[in-house]
Parts: sequence; structure tokens; C-alpha cells
Amino acid sequence: MKFFIDTANLEQIREAQDLGVLDGVTTNPSLMAKEGITGDQNVLNHYKAICDIVDANVSAEVISTDFESMIKEGEALAKLDPKIVVKIPMIKDGVKAIKYLSSKGIRTNCTLIFSAGQALIAAKAGATYVSPFLGRLDDISTDGFQLIEDIRLIFDNYQYETQILAASVRGPMHIINCAKLGADVMTGPLSAILALIKHPLTDSGLAQFLADHAKAAGK
Ligand code: E4P
Repeated sequence: MKFFIDTANLEQIREAQDLGVLDGVTTNPSLMAKEGITGDQNVLNHYKAICDIVDANVSAEVISTDFESMIKEGEALAKLDPKIVVKIPMIKDGVKAIKYLSSKGIRTNCTLIFSAGQALIAAKAGATYVSPFLGRLDDISTDGFQLIEDIRLIFDNYQYETQILAASVRGPMHIINCAKLGADVMTGPLSAILALIKHPLTDSGLAQFLADHAKAAGK
């Protein structure tokens, strides 16, 4: 399973990269705004700065919502760095833009997926990734894991190469359940990735090992 970090915070991206398990970064306009990144050129510079930190791919989202502007924006983003994957929302013009950009060899991540039908049409259009938003489905008491399972079944039935990128991941159990269901990728906050490392029995076991070692050495 690939691990992406869902943030535009350079410090957190660096920390995840240093951990050695990072396969990519996803951003969205809200995450960019959270970091105070505004203005076209600043946004492009920030994507470039992210690409310079990581060895892997970086999803950069278009702001436009009509076909012509989306492909223009998408092509400009893709030109920034070979690591860029253009993130396109699941709307009618978005489907057309995914089809166009993928025919030009530009990788796309279809975002804001909340149903299996949306994932199916994005895969047919040639999306590299589809991003079902688990946490936001949880927020409205809807089973996001069932959605991942349904998309997995559909993609496997027809051997779609589109990867399932479980998004809006909020914690370690989301990651584990997505891994069990065969999601190709998950994207979540650094805290969710770091939480996978922790176990109280590991901490107490290590403390005991070190205490026994010190005692035997007469320290
Ligand atoms: C996906 O790529 C989105 O950036 C993201 O995962 C949204 O997550 P949220 O629901 O926590 O905002």
C-alpha cells in the first residue's frame, strides 16, 4: 500500500519524507489556504517547493470548473515538475478534462468521489487515481469502507488500472481497514501515519529491555 501525506505544510512533508515511507503528497485548495498560500505564482512556487522535498508524486488541484480552463490550468501544473499529478474534481467538465489530460500523458487524480458510479466513470475517462473521501462519509454516518470495497470489485472486474486512493483518512484504523480492503493508496495527515508506529506494549517492552540491560551491566 502506498502512503501519501495530505498536507501543504512543508515541515510535515519533510518529516514524512525523512521517515522513509512516503510515496506521495496530496494537497487541495483548503490545505493551501491553511498554509496562507495565495496568489497564482505563490501557489505554483509552493507546489515546486513540495516537489523539491519528495521523491514521489504530488497532487496539485485545479481551481477552474469549466473544461477549457481546467485543461489550461492542468497543463500549466503538469509543466511545473514531472512529479505533479493534476487533481480534478468529479464534475461533468472534470470527466472531460481527465479524458483530455490522460490522452496527453498527464496523470490525473479525480477528487471528491463519494459513489462507486463516480469512480467507474473516472476510471473510464482514464484517471490515474480516484479519491473516495472516507472521513467525510463517516461524518455523515455513511460507510466509506463499503465504498472502497465496491470500487475495488468494479476495478478488478474490468482490470481498470486506475488506482484507488483512499482520501480524507483521519486515523490509523482508517489506514488499516483500507489496506485490508485493497486500496492501492491512502492519503492522510502525518499524525495518522505516526500513530501506526505506536503501541503501549512496545514502549513498556523496550523500557524493560533497557532496564534489564543496564542492571546486568551494573549501571
Ligand atoms: C484528498 O486528496 C483531500 O485532500 C483530502 O483527503 C480531504 O480530507 P479532509 O476530509 O480531511 O479534508
